[in-house]
Amino acid sequence: MCGIVGYIGNGNVYDVLIKGLQRLEYRGYDSAGIALLTPDNKINVYKTRGKVSALENFCRDKNTESRLGIAHTRWATHGEPTDNNAHPHYSEDGNLALVHNGTIENFKVLKDALQQHGVHFHTETDTEVLVQLIEFIKVQNSCSLLDAVREALKQVVGAYAMAVIDKNEPDQIIAARKSSPLVVGIGDDEMFLASDATPFVDHTKNVVYIDDEHIAIIRKGEPLRIVDFENKESKVSVKQLEWSISQLEKGGYPHFMLKEIFEQPETLRDCIRGRAVADQGKVILNGVLSNSEKFLNANRIIIVACGTSWHASLLGKSLIQQFCRIPVDVEYASEFRYSKPVITDKDVVIAVSQSGETADTLAAIQIARDKGAFVYGISNVVGSSIAREADSVLYTQAGPEISVASTKAMCSQMVIMALIALYYGQRKGLLDAKTRHEALAALHGLPKQIEDALPAMRETAQMLSPLYASAHSFFYLGRGHAFPLALEGALKLKEISYIHAEGYASGEMKHGPIALIEPEFPTFALAFNDALFPKVKSNIVEVQARRGPVIALANPGADLHVEHLWTIPSAWGPFNAFLALPAMQLFSYEMADYLGKDVDQPRNLAKSVTVE
Ligand code: G6P
Repeated sequence: MCGIVGYIGNGNVYDVLIKGLQRLEYRGYDSAGIALLTPDNKINVYKTRGKVSALENFCRDKNTESRLGIAHTRWATHGEPTDNNAHPHYSEDGNLALVHNGTIENFKVLKDALQQHGVHFHTETDTEVLVQLIEFIKVQNSCSLLDAVREALKQVVGAYAMAVIDKNEPDQIIAARKSSPLVVGIGDDEMFLASDATPFVDHTKNVVYIDDEHIAIIRKGEPLRIVDFENKESKVSVKQLEWSISQLEKGGYPHFMLKEIFEQPETLRDCIRGRAVADQGKVILNGVLSNSEKFLNANRIIIVACGTSWHASLLGKSLIQQFCRIPVDVEYASEFRYSKPVITDKDVVIAVSQSGETADTLAAIQIARDKGAFVYGISNVVGSSIAREADSVLYTQAGPEISVASTKAMCSQMVIMALIALYYGQRKGLLDAKTRHEALAALHGLPKQIEDALPAMRETAQMLSPLYASAHSFFYLGRGHAFPLALEGALKLKEISYIHAEGYASGEMKHGPIALIEPEFPTFALAFNDALFPKVKSNIVEVQARRGPVIALANPGADLHVEHLWTIPSAWGPFNAFLALPAMQLFSYEMADYLGKDVDQPRNLAKSVTVE
């Protein structure tokens, strides 16, 4: 959701910024723009609705010579995605240009006050208020850009990452953040600024994560400085990125989503390496060892998450309850934060987020901590806000996920959930040695099992997609461990193929949804070979009795008579979920691809949702 890039250095500023914006495309956006400080200290802003490629076309006959610049991809919040509302925004006298990610909640109050002082506004955005306010303060107080930014941000309520340049103070970018991500990359005689490290990972691996309510002063030929809003200097702590360029490229696949689905065996291996020790029948979770008592003595576990991470959390609930016998609640972070939750210091909260930047999940963490609960973060992004806000963090180690629709990240979250459940089951003495050995051997077997199964799964998905692509709606049904997967299957289909789909607990079908069943309304049923199979089979038969076509995802030997019986290999108990997941992902992928949709960047969606 909105992406920021900035660059100061001897390279071609325009090229670096455009490449950076392309790398941020995965976050989701609807317009793009760039502000370039020319060698003679003028600011040229070029912006347009649509893709970064549209911006490149627009700039083709423009002057792009520059000494530094900032750029932006906008995901519209205040005002439609028009050329005019796209960032960067100029200040009234054209001295400043600013880009912003987030929302300014009190923009109306600030705008009214500025208008009373004669400031004119030219866009519908909340962002324009920020640039006008900074300029107003700068002129009124005859102060530096830095001081004006500090003062302005003290008046702003909301979430933001922002960057501003000033033609009267050239050779500098001032950037700040509160609840939205911002990272500085430090190269040789050059510095980068971005919403995450993807825009500059091929230039430098040295990164500085800017803390909340801090301001980065990026000046040519000077070391990076960071101050807080009171101008107090902060330590600049440089971290090393462990990403490689190949993780950011498609590597021969037509889409990142397909590549990431096929990366899941590797994701599993990376995630369990050193954590699931099969020959000793032990799980080792270094990140949580020092805080184990909190978990072991917890009255209750509350898991907060959004979207796909929420589905992984539901699987976590059934695993933790099964192996640890601790009650678990799973809450949408967006609901939790406004629900006046009853939390005590005997509760443990687990916040699950691929990006580590989801605004609602971050807010949920803050509430939980304020009430004294211990917070574990599960995130895929080292140094992300959620990783830093949590008391203890477990990284999912799935590598960068570029496709907006989350695939391998969910797989890794499911592994972490399984490891937590097994670890605490083992610590609480609730898991006998035999079960532990079986579970860990099964976990170690999963990568190879999935690797072997993926090509056939894709073939089946390719075969099914033309047969079902004309459907307007789908049900996804599952029970027990399969229920979260049914929800995820439906979400994936909606996200990328735009076919309406609903996930239901199979047993709930009779309580309303079954009224919709007719020959044009297919059902995708998860029917694993477990204790619930006979129940699921009855639910499938009920759908068929209403002439609803059924695709059943089942294990070999399943006694089912449906339109399409899709057989996948069996895994140990609840771990069937790990094999069902890629099959359903591939089904959605092939449906979307068959329908000619933009698989990696579905309309209206953002990868990292940094606003409420
Ligand atoms: C967005 C993404 C989803 C993701 C959700 C939660 O909606 O499009 O794929 O599941 O945010 O994101 P998180 O980074 O917190 O897991």
